Amino acid sequence: MKSVADKLNRPLRDLRISVTDQCNFRCSYCMPKEIFGPDYAFLPKHAVLSNEEIVFAAKSFAQLGVQKIRLTGGEPLLRPDLTALISDLKSSTGIEDISLTTNASLLPRYAQKLKDAGLKRINISLDSLDTERFSIMSGGRSSPEAVLRGIDAAENAGLPTKVNMVAKLGVNDIDILPMVSYFRERRITLRFIEFMDVGETNAWKMDQVVSAKQILETIAQRYEFEAVDPSYRGEVASRYRFKDTGSEFGIITSITNPFCGDCNRARLSAEGKLYTCLFASAGTDLKQHIRAGVSQEEFTRIVSKLWIGRDDQYSEDRSKGRPLKSDKKVEMSYIGG
Ligand code: GTP
Ligand code: 5AD
Ligand code: SF4
Ligand code: SF4
Repeated sequence: MKSVADKLNRPLRDLRISVTDQCNFRCSYCMPKEIFGPDYAFLPKHAVLSNEEIVFAAKSFAQLGVQKIRLTGGEPLLRPDLTALISDLKSSTGIEDISLTTNASLLPRYAQKLKDAGLKRINISLDSLDTERFSIMSGGRSSPEAVLRGIDAAENAGLPTKVNMVAKLGVNDIDILPMVSYFRERRITLRFIEFMDVGETNAWKMDQVVSAKQILETIAQRYEFEAVDPSYRGEVASRYRFKDTGSEFGIITSITNPFCGDCNRARLSAEGKLYTCLFASAGTDLKQHIRAGVSQEEFTRIVSKLWIGRDDQYSEDRSKGRPLKSDKKVEMSYIGG
């Protein structure tokens, strides 16, 4: 295995693969229903990478140092051959840490199959336990009960699970404490994500961001906790441990405390474009090389060159008031978060 470092000396360790740009939810911060309506042009099937093509790409990433693969979407469980993809990725790349980010609505049907295919762990999005506020956040789709059934299914299948909550001020910040209490009892790690200015459609405003500071102050009203050291370099979430139960929660502070300095993540879109930052406006078309039949060695060389030329640090630039590289940023549902 070779190891590559980018211009800021960051290694390539994580590969996030978006397996579909479609989703059965319409979260206001990701796929607002006003924009992602019936006429929205999703990727046609032939444009989306096949399992074989994804595995081919992943093998080169593995050769360059990738140790973790996360499958994302849209909603990855909408891809019919997802379980086959997981087992193929595992056997072909040798990567053990294969995980999934999902809205959980389809997990009761798939959790055991995913586990059997070799999935290691799952991150599930849930923004409220209250039916009405859940509905506002998810664009009127599904229910908290359905997501909780998905969480139960993941646990029953023996898949370690974390829950992600995006908090928007004045919408679901009131849910911070109820969510903390609920998942603390269940010993499931809940991670708060600061509402991010990703994409161009979610009408992001700074005054809707619930900051890490506000989240910590809210939790401190009821519980005692302490900060925990990151478990590895480049961990996305800051971690905290409750002093009584020992269970943990986390905060992903992309807005108020960016973590670009250690960012080791590459993103492969469903149509085979490589993005070296979540906030990029353009990706590099890798599918053309795959479909042209390049050798594995040549493909590894292409990816390596792209990573070596990488200098992205969008969140850091924004927080320091530097001019931003991206003009029209790619959508979260397309790039997989
Ligand atoms: P773990 O390996 O379990 O820590 O997964 P993860 O937190 O990397 O993945 P997940 O899909 O659960 O992402 C949680 C949130 O972190 C999502 O909102 C992602 O968009 C965000 N996130 C992940 N990586 C990055 C990143 O490199 N930059 C920014 N700004 N946000 C990121
Ligand atoms: N800001 C913060 N988090 C977001 N997610 C999607 N869009 C945004 C946004 N604009 C979260 C989802 C999911 C994860 C992949 O990204 O809730 O948990
Ligand atoms: Fe779908 Fe996840 Fe985006 Fe919500 S955040 S619309 S569940 S992809
Ligand atoms: Fe990485 Fe870009 Fe996120 Fe910074 S903003 S942590 S460079 S993906």
